[in-house]
Amino acid sequence: MKNTTVTFKNKKTDGEKITMLTAYDYTTAKLEDEAGVDSILVGDSLGMVIMGYDSTLSVTMEDMIHHSKIVARGAKNALVVTDMPFMSYQTSVYDAVVNAGRLIKEGHADAVKLEGGVKFEEHIRKIVDASIPVVGHIGMTPQSVNSFGGFKVQGKNIDDAKRIIDDAKAVERAGAFAVVLECVPTPLATYITEILSIPTIGIGAGNGCDGQVLVYQDMLGMYSDFTPKFVKKYGELGESMKNCFKQYCSEVKNGTFPKEENSFKMSEEVMKQITE
Ligand code: KIV
Ligand code: NA
Repeated sequence: MKNTTVTFKNKKTDGEKITMLTAYDYTTAKLEDEAGVDSILVGDSLGMVIMGYDSTLSVTMEDMIHHSKIVARGAKNALVVTDMPFMSYQTSVYDAVVNAGRLIKEGHADAVKLEGGVKFEEHIRKIVDASIPVVGHIGMTPQSVNSFGGFKVQGKNIDDAKRIIDDAKAVERAGAFAVVLECVPTPLATYITEILSIPTIGIGAGNGCDGQVLVYQDMLGMYSDFTPKFVKKYGELGESMKNCFKQYCSEVKNGTFPKEENSFKMSEEVMKQITE
């Protein structure tokens, strides 16, 4: 059965953890969906792990729509949340609603996610008014990497912690159905989880959140440019892939691939007529 915003709400009420992973393509989305992941995030992290940029800032609406509709085809049960890219909502409330609509209509997303709290309360409210479910994203928000001066944990001092709490309340007040807490200390994330009625999804935010999200290339050990402290590697698929690629190259070079079982036959009679 397709998960909805109600599934998220019920899980928080029942004290059941919510699972979310990123995906950017059909094959991966289908594997995650079959594994029982509750929700798939088409993150603008695709700028880094798929497109090879060193931040998420260059990702466009076209990039997000392209990957979102591909993921949606593989997500039978998982709720598809698609990120609003940098400058698709910061410019105005109007732009926010129009671009959120595009992610639903053209990207076939079930919900959208955008970064920021207090400053974007009205943006979130108007998207929700258009019947588009919204996930908030606060704490270390990667689209603000240049203002933060790097990908750094947020909320360690009193002013920052209070600002993040205000952001969390603003996101809830605006009508978001969930909020991602990225790179904030565990006690702060746990406190926010307790005071909010909507579920919190943590990444680098400790075990007190209502759910967790990870970038799948990080958790599979496929992306080596940068590995944050909060990532747990559930496999070393990058090494496995490299070994398979190496073995393929050597078998092609030494002629052991393809074998007869990988090849097609035809009658000797026909070949005789050609070569005669
Ligand atoms: O883009 C992304 O993958 C994200 C998660 C890290 C929450 O926003
Ligand atoms: Na993102």
